[in-house]
Amino acid sequence: MAPKDIVYVNGAFVPRAEARVSVEDRGFVFGDGVYEVLRIINGRPFAARFHNERLRRSLEGIRISLAGKETPESLTEIGRHLLEENGLLQGEATMYMQVTRGAATRAHNFPPPEIQPTVYISVARFTPYSDLALNGASAITHPDLRWGRCDLKTLNLLPNILASQAAKERGTFEAMLIRDGVVTEGTKTNFFGVLDGTLRTHPCDDHILPGITRSILSELARELNVDLEETPIQASEIPLLSELFLSGTTTDVMPVVTLDNKPVGNGKPGEVTRKLQRVLAESLASGGD
Ligand code: PDD
Repeated sequence: MAPKDIVYVNGAFVPRAEARVSVEDRGFVFGDGVYEVLRIINGRPFAARFHNERLRRSLEGIRISLAGKETPESLTEIGRHLLEENGLLQGEATMYMQVTRGAATRAHNFPPPEIQPTVYISVARFTPYSDLALNGASAITHPDLRWGRCDLKTLNLLPNILASQAAKERGTFEAMLIRDGVVTEGTKTNFFGVLDGTLRTHPCDDHILPGITRSILSELARELNVDLEETPIQASEIPLLSELFLSGTTTDVMPVVTLDNKPVGNGKPGEVTRKLQRVLAESLASGGD
């Protein structure tokens, strides 16, 4: 029997192929909404507390209020139900949660208060990038053309999409975004580098998404007594990096061994990268928080 593929849209559990939203939905017309991606291991959302907190912050950041008694936590509960419905309680999966400002006649300003947000939740089987994680990936540098509130996880991903496609067309895994001469993050990941023995990553400000994996790794690095500085890597420092890796819900710790066709360090995943890869895998396996 083919696995079920049920999604949740605005209060209804429906087969994915039958799920519908209005053509006037502001997510469709304006990209006016926010989202979260959670990692699921054996039916359990990893670090759900942090994802719910970030969803709440993104919603507040773009001034969307969930309807009635809905909360990020109740949406995650709906996602858990979808895991059950779709037979995804064993093994790896992802959960996608999206909230838009709802469907209304097109106007740039907000719709009238009676318009309810559109909520869409879906789950899918997930296979981690195990081979790449073992051998290391390649990346390119690319200008960061995004807006001034990259800390909010909004649907407006056009600069990310274009940079990600540029990376793909160059046969690489990710684009490292550079704004005003500093490395900010990737199109769907945060970047960490090792320079003179110190692990460095961009501080959490308006120019990066406060990655959940980034924050878990920062904690794990502290526990391992790895020297970590939240100081941006300057583009001019890139040739001096001995290690480079990216982090994200669907990428875990991914070593970057080639950047713009040049080897990073000795061209192999480095020691700090390997250590953090190992402890994050342990944390995922144990269910995290
Ligand atoms: N992306 N930076 C950006 C721009 C991202 O979109 C993401 C996540 C991250 C990593 O954050 P976290 O560790 O919380 O996943 C950093 C998700 C996975 C996506 O858009 O599919």
